[in-house]
Amino acid sequence: MSQNVIIKHMEKKITVAPSVLSADFSDMKKVLNEIENSGAGWVHLDVMDGCFVPNLTFGPKFIKDIREHSNLFFDAHLMIVHPEKFVDEFADAGCDSITVHAEACSDLRDILLKIKDRGCRCGVAIKPATPVSEIENVLDIADIVLVMTVEPGFGGQQIKKECFEKIRKLVSLRNGRNYVISADGGLKPEVIDEAVLAGLDVAVTGSAFFKAPDKVGFVKMMSEGSQK
Ligand code: DX5
Ligand code: ZN
Repeated sequence: MSQNVIIKHMEKKITVAPSVLSADFSDMKKVLNEIENSGAGWVHLDVMDGCFVPNLTFGPKFIKDIREHSNLFFDAHLMIVHPEKFVDEFADAGCDSITVHAEACSDLRDILLKIKDRGCRCGVAIKPATPVSEIENVLDIADIVLVMTVEPGFGGQQIKKECFEKIRKLVSLRNGRNYVISADGGLKPEVIDEAVLAGLDVAVTGSAFFKAPDKVGFVKMMSEGSQK
C-alpha cells in the first residue's frame, strides 16, 4: 500500500454501515446499541426473499419493530423480486433509505421516484456482473448507488476487488450529481483503503464488524483508514 493511499483515506472519512445479517436476531436491542456505541452512523438491513437470492431474512415487520429502539439511519437493501410492490411497507416501517436491485426492476426509474415520493432516499444496487451502463439513465435521481462486491445472498464471502472499477466509473460519471457510492460484501480493514481510493463513500460491513472485539476501533479504521 503506497503512502498516497494512506494519506488519501485519512483525509476522507467514510460512512460505515454494519449489516445486521451477521448479528444475533434474538437480541436486536443489544445489536442496535452495539452499532450505535461503535460510532457507525448507519444500520444496513438485508431483506432477502429466497427468490432473487437463495436466502431468506426478514421483512418490514421486523424493521418496524426494531425502529422503535434506534434513531440510527436505516439503510434497507432489498434483495427481492418485484420490489415495487413493497415500497410503501418499507417506508411505513421507518426505513431512511430503500435500495432496490437494477436486475429486479422492470421500471427502475419509476420505483426510484416512488421511493423518493415516500420521503426516503432512493438507492440502486448492481450485482458483480451488472455493468454501470445499466443504471446510467437513473444516476440523475439516485441518492445511493450500491456496488455489490460479492454475489448477494450471504455474508462472510471473499470480496471481488475487480468491482472497484465500477466505483471509479461512478466517480467519473458523477458530474456534480449527489449520489453516494456504497459497496457491500467482503469489506474489511485489509481492503478498505483501496476501496476509498477508488471513491467509496459508504462501507457496508457484516461479518467483519460482528467478529471485531473492539468495535469502536474497527469503525474508526474503516472510516478513517486502516494503515496508521
Ligand atoms: C450480502 C449482503 C451483505 C452482507 C455483507 O448479500 O447484502 O450486506 O451482510 O456481509 P459481509 O461483510 O460479511 O460480506
Ligand atoms: Zn446488503
